[in-house]
Amino acid sequence: MSEKRSSFTGKIGFVLAAAGSAVGLGNIWRFPYLAAKYGGGIFLLVYLILAVTFGFSLMVAEIAIGRKTGQSAIGAFKSLDKRFSFIGVICAVIPIMILPYYSVIGGWVMKYMVGFVTGNAANMANDAYFGSYIGKTFEPVVWFALFIGITALIVLFGVQKGVETVSKFMMPVLVVLTVFIAVYTICTMDGAMDGVIYYLKPDFSHFSIMTVVAAMGQLFYSMSLAMGIMITFGSYTKKDISIEASTRQIEWFDTGVAFLAGLMIIPAVFSFSGGDHAALKQGPGLMFVTLPKVFDKMPGGSFIGALFFVMVLLAALTSSISLMETIVSFLMDNLKLGRKRSCFAVLVFSLLLGLPSCFGYSIWSEVTVLGMQLLDFFDFASNSVLMPIVAFVTCILVGYILKPKAVIEEVEISGPFKSKRLFYVMIRYVAPVCILAILLSSVLNAFGIIKI
Ligand code: TRP
Repeated sequence: MSEKRSSFTGKIGFVLAAAGSAVGLGNIWRFPYLAAKYGGGIFLLVYLILAVTFGFSLMVAEIAIGRKTGQSAIGAFKSLDKRFSFIGVICAVIPIMILPYYSVIGGWVMKYMVGFVTGNAANMANDAYFGSYIGKTFEPVVWFALFIGITALIVLFGVQKGVETVSKFMMPVLVVLTVFIAVYTICTMDGAMDGVIYYLKPDFSHFSIMTVVAAMGQLFYSMSLAMGIMITFGSYTKKDISIEASTRQIEWFDTGVAFLAGLMIIPAVFSFSGGDHAALKQGPGLMFVTLPKVFDKMPGGSFIGALFFVMVLLAALTSSISLMETIVSFLMDNLKLGRKRSCFAVLVFSLLLGLPSCFGYSIWSEVTVLGMQLLDFFDFASNSVLMPIVAFVTCILVGYILKPKAVIEEVEISGPFKSKRLFYVMIRYVAPVCILAILLSSVLNAFGIIKI
């Protein structure tokens, strides 16, 4: 690590870059389907509570660790305590697991975008369209390969500067479109109001441990936590930037986009299904089945739909680029591979690892791991197992080995730390205990040892 690290130009540069990585398919595709599946209002409530407590504390800790050590995850953990080096390695494995299936979904988005742009909107509104599309053997693979190929090209040419520029215009357009679609659905479609109530009003009878497991996995995923990425961002951050204020901004922005995405999708699901709750449990396909129907009803819907899917694609690309960049720089630093070779290696590996996720919906649809479809399995293994492990160990490291004071001092370099108390209690007591409980219950549940 002899090279001088570049740093963000200012506060806005840092917040934008972190938000660009955070806002992606996690917010628009994953959050709504989990909220629909795990109880609507109660999921939202649990998620919000976790975001302002856990999510906040973990993000502050990660950014502070990065800024304090000036290194990315592997180096940072090693320099803080040799015994914790292994966690840096797990941090590197997580994006390697996520990127392939993330790109499979990215491929779906691309297919839909091209469909809307080429005037195929009415067809896509058909109930059976999505199922028959992902059930094809080759086509989803082609779109997936295209998505990951574009990501690799951007990472290869190192044009990340372009990513910031794209984020700057994509995010506001995405937010405006989402609000517009949500308002349109709620105001014009029968039964949509029931969906709004389902989404906003916590119904404790829908609560189960799985609600918390899913909400926590989603929190890590959506805020790009527990995989070292915020440590890397922290290492680029200057000392005069307020870690606390930036974290709050990233967190609210990320949660805001997810919230709006839910408001756009869940009421529409209610309206089209006539309130049939079975429609809520669709899982990963929810957005792809629901939104084209909304666009089909809307005047000018094929244009709005095309614009919307272009924005979602850009959001997905900014995230996949950041995921791939993490892996590429890991290979460059640790295996001393050049940029070209690293990109190529990541591309080939991701293609291979993504194939099972694609085929899981077609020729390998009977193959399940622990009762899960292949894509769901990769999603589960990274979000509900590996990320909680990283988060737990980070809490132990910060809470007991370094002591919270180390992070608090780093935060206070740039001003008072208002939520110091909250941070202390979270990182030392509440977070590790809850994460451990949740990790155990989700693993035992997956292996069928307990039933939750
Ligand atoms: N937060 C991203 C999303 O919501 C996904 C993600 C998780 C990610 N970890 C990341 C993106 C690291 C970039 C870098 O879609």
